[in-house]
Amino acid sequence: MKFFIDTANLIEIKNANDLGILDGVTTNPSLMAKEGISGEENILNHYKNICKIVKGDVSAEVISTDYKGMVEEGEILANLNPQIVIKLPMIESGLKACKHFSEKGMKTNVTLVFSVGQAILAAKAGATYVSPFIGRLDDISTDGLNLISEIREIYDNYNFKTNILAASIRHSMHIINCAKIGADVITGPLSSIQSLLKHPLTVSGLEKFLADYKKSN
Ligand code: G3P
Repeated sequence: MKFFIDTANLIEIKNANDLGILDGVTTNPSLMAKEGISGEENILNHYKNICKIVKGDVSAEVISTDYKGMVEEGEILANLNPQIVIKLPMIESGLKACKHFSEKGMKTNVTLVFSVGQAILAAKAGATYVSPFIGRLDDISTDGLNLISEIREIYDNYNFKTNILAASIRHSMHIINCAKIGADVITGPLSSIQSLLKHPLTVSGLEKFLADYKKSN
């Protein structure tokens, strides 16, 4: 199971990378805006800087919504660095652009996926990754994890090679349940990954070990 961090914050990316368990990064236009990154040149430079920090795949999302624009933008993004994965929204033009890029052997991530039907189409178009948003489904009282289970079953039925990238992760239980289901990748904020590390018995156990050591030394 791969761990990606879902942020455009360079410090968070570096901190996650320093943990030694980071496999990649996902970004989106909202995350870029949150960091105050605007203007084409700054955005492209920011992607280059992210690629300098991590070794794995870095998803960079297109802004265009028409096929021609997506193809042009995707080419520019992919040319920045071989780590770049072209992130495309699950709309008709995005699906066509996904097919175009996969036929050229270029990496894609089909995003804003909320149904099994959308996930089947992404796989048929040869997407490298499909991003179902589990937290946003939970937000509307729908079982986000169930979507991951259904996609896993269908992809396994047909041996689809598209990687299930569980996105919109909000907490550690999302990650653990995605691991049980067999998601290929999770992407979440640094806090969701760090919370896997914490257990009160680890803290109290270590305190006792160190106190006992001090008593006898
Ligand atoms: O990057 C896409 C996705 O992970 C967004 O998550 O928390 O905004 O629903 P969130």
